[in-house]
Amino acid sequence: MEILLRPDAAVGSRTAAGVVARLIREKPACVLGLATGRTPMSLYHELIRMHREEGLDFSQVTTFNLDEYVGLAPDHPASYHSFMWEYLFKHVNIKPLQVNIPNGLAKNIPEHCREYEDKIRACGGIDIQLLGIGGDGHIGFNEPCSSLSSRTRIKTLTRRTIQDNSTFFDSAEQVPLHVLTMGIGTIMDSRSCVLLAFGTRKAEIVAKMVEGPISAMVPASALQWHEKTTVLIDEEASGKLTRKDYYQWVYQNKPAWQTAEIES
Ligand code: PGA
Repeated sequence: MEILLRPDAAVGSRTAAGVVARLIREKPACVLGLATGRTPMSLYHELIRMHREEGLDFSQVTTFNLDEYVGLAPDHPASYHSFMWEYLFKHVNIKPLQVNIPNGLAKNIPEHCREYEDKIRACGGIDIQLLGIGGDGHIGFNEPCSSLSSRTRIKTLTRRTIQDNSTFFDSAEQVPLHVLTMGIGTIMDSRSCVLLAFGTRKAEIVAKMVEGPISAMVPASALQWHEKTTVLIDEEASGKLTRKDYYQWVYQNKPAWQTAEIES
């Protein structure tokens, strides 16, 4: 894992947007894996700015979102379809047919999940998978105990995640119990991952993910096994890391060509 420390969420989000924009410029027909939640909102905001002011072109980009609530229609205000259109897609020139989000109303869920996996493969696989991390260590909606080789499937949310996500609904009772999510195996197949975590509420789980053992109890820890994962965290989220000085040292001493990949 590459650990990138940034002073705050705004700088961290700009760094992540820069990494995504660089991919889009170098490979216009790239495949992006996208995440929802509070964490990536500023990153999407920055991508919209780059589209408007710098001509960042999404016309050939294909996207696959990590997850969706079972039982919510795409136009439900709390669905991840709505989230993505509201916070990114409607502001850029992406082609709707190149947007993929699991369908929470799928009649045959196992078949829909298999088709989602097939489509990711048919598109050549995901170039960059953006990720947040849940307070319980989930990535996508792979809650603790998820198989580390799982594929897209239905999952049951933990009480904690229901509580955490209730701010997007009128009450916790309205949060669906079930979700469709890419599996940890699906995420591990991505060519690279960029995980963002900001704020003190993420400090403990970030330390477990980065410095703890690989365990299904902390699904994000599976990324220790991933070939190319960047963990982008702010000062607050880095508060419980024991090797923070070392991560800073590594960054300060990177060869210039490596730093340019991140900073340009
Ligand atoms: P958050 O959620 O960005 O709203 O903190 C992260 C997640 O659950 O993956």
